[in-house]
Amino acid sequence: MKRGIVPGTFDPITSGHLDIIERAAGLLDEIVVGVALSAEKGGGPLFSARERIAFIEAATKHLSNVSVKGFDTLLVNFADEVGALVIIKGLRAMTDFEREFQMAALNWRLDSKVETMFIMAIPEYMFLSSSAVKEIARHGGSVKGLVPDVVSEALPHKLSEAR
Ligand code: PNS
Repeated sequence: MKRGIVPGTFDPITSGHLDIIERAAGLLDEIVVGVALSAEKGGGPLFSARERIAFIEAATKHLSNVSVKGFDTLLVNFADEVGALVIIKGLRAMTDFEREFQMAALNWRLDSKVETMFIMAIPEYMFLSSSAVKEIARHGGSVKGLVPDVVSEALPHKLSEAR
């Protein structure tokens, strides 16, 4: 049984994340999507961990070999806890590379049994990010197609609450 994890902050999940999860689910027997509970990026997440997990569950319900779990530990420890052999990350433009390269090297240093594999984003999603989605929505732009429907429906409410 080859199990992999697709980790991230997912604040919120985008169509680009979903594409990586779907492609990873086609390559391995089981995928656990690992949601970093206490994300440190950009002053904390907009959506709560419970909301971020619920969006991913809704967006991946057509994938029978995908489950979603929160984690608040080192990623390699989470991989060990769920019995995963491999960490799968999406790679977009070159700007991702340095950060991902550093994380992969540190994770290898922490536990060399866990491999990191990268799946290239398709051109359509190359420049898509959760922060860009939030910025577009904040200024009233449409994010339809950029995120799963469950997210595009929730975003305006969440942003008006946060204002
Ligand atoms: O959505 P992101 O920002 O690409 O996700 C980053 C994430 C959650 C994968 C990364 O921050 C992470 O692995 N956090 C867990 C803590 C950890 O293991 N840090 C050491 C590796 S650099």
